[in-house]
Amino acid sequence: MFSIWVHLISLVFYLLKLKAHQFATKSYGLILIIITLDMQKIIPLIVTMIVLLYAVYNAKFRDAPKTDTPTNIHYKEHIKTHKTTHYEDELSHINTDAYTKDYIIKVINHGSNILDFKGGVMEGGFANPSDAEKIACYTMELSGKKCRTPYPKDAAMFYTSICGGCHGNDGKGLGGTYPDLTRPKMLGIEMRENFLKSMQKHR
Ligand code: HEC
Repeated sequence: MFSIWVHLISLVFYLLKLKAHQFATKSYGLILIIITLDMQKIIPLIVTMIVLLYAVYNAKFRDAPKTDTPTNIHYKEHIKTHKTTHYEDELSHINTDAYTKDYIIKVINHGSNILDFKGGVMEGGFANPSDAEKIACYTMELSGKKCRTPYPKDAAMFYTSICGGCHGNDGKGLGGTYPDLTRPKMLGIEMRENFLKSMQKHR
């Protein structure tokens, strides 16, 4: 009598394809074992009750929509208020000499490993951070860009002794082994610009 019950209930869950059906069918095997072992009749009833309760819990509560956590709320607000304006801000001045200067300083201090040159990657810290700005200024002047900050004459010496070995004293990258620093737009900046433009499309 109980065994029929158990079979039926398991089957009903399965057929209804409730969220609980996996659990119900898994238990199905277990229940069959209990029944065939001819254990006390109360056991299938208890198991049935457990299955039933679990099924109801599963169907009703388990996949209930989650309430927003404070982090979620904060993130959504952030997206709403910022939209993609920070990309646009950056794009609006990405072609300026000031941006180029900051970029070179960043590469000097932190290195670069995105460009895939024969020469390998560039480690950060070839120059002392306090010398980075004047070296950046000198580097820019190699291709006629304007740094706008007066810098000491020894910048050239710093460039040739620290950077020139790889990028060449003329900055042209020793025939393609290292990046040409005299390009109208540096490769890393070009990549960044393309990335920002692609992000703009996804707002
Ligand atoms: C040991 C060789 C080496 C030295 C020394 C070196 N670089 Fe580089 N530099 C590289 C390599 C290799 C890359 C490309 C790294 C990459 O894949 O992103 C690079 C990339 C750069 C870039 C990015 C170029 C672009 O088109 O985006 C700049 C700017 C740069 N170097 C400036 C300097 C300056 C300024 C110095 C001197 C302080 C210097 N490098 C010293 C090897 C060197």
